[in-house]
Amino acid sequence: MFAAHVASDLARLREYLPWPDPTSEPTGAAAWLSRYDRGEGGRKLAAGVWHDGALVGGIVLFFHDEASAQIELGCWALGSVEGKGVVRAACVEGLRLARSWGVERVEWHCDPRNTRSGALAARLGFQHEGTLRSSYVLRGERLDTAVYGLIGAEIDAVIA
Ligand SMILES: CC(C)(COP(=O)(O)OP(=O)(O)OC[C@H]1O[C@@H](n2cnc3c(N)ncnc32)[C@H](O)[C@@H]1OP(=O)(O)O)[C@@H](O)C(=O)NCCC(=O)NCCS
Repeated sequence: MFAAHVASDLARLREYLPWPDPTSEPTGAAAWLSRYDRGEGGRKLAAGVWHDGALVGGIVLFFHDEASAQIELGCWALGSVEGKGVVRAACVEGLRLARSWGVERVEWHCDPRNTRSGALAARLGFQHEGTLRSSYVLRGERLDTAVYGLIGAEIDAVIA
């Protein structure tokens, strides 16, 4: 189910992300989800967004560090539901959950060219804190990472 979901819009989902390639086939999808099941590396949540019984997107909460009360939020949507506020609504629920775990700082990372991702982060109230140059490798290419942050009372304002 998850693999078919990713495969249905692979070209779009993989543009700025590494995980759609391996998760677009069942073995890779099961391995990816099982890392969330096990809580590996601070992975706390992989949740789907559903419409009329179909999986149309999702959010992930990962890299949770309990000591510093930080976590990273990620998200995606199929093209069919893009531009409808669906992912924004899911992100708000993710932030609500993170806050219930005592999280004080949420990070959002994206490729600076991923304008829809940056725009969503900004609409949620995240502040652009800087860009890490040449900080990750996607299919052999070194790329930058725009880092956004949402902290304390800012999280409360979004989930209110
Ligand atoms: C990044 C991504 C999740 C953004 O999705 P999105 O649909 O643009 O984001 P939102 O859910 O906030 O929707 C916003 C749009 O819905 C519109 N909208 C309609 N009804 C709305 C409502 N009730 N509430 C909020 N927005 C609403 C907004 O006006 C906005 O439209 P616009 O983009 O034309 O200005 C999506 O582009 C995506 O999945 N990309 C591929 C994967 C990816 O790059 N993920 C991020 C990795 S960092």
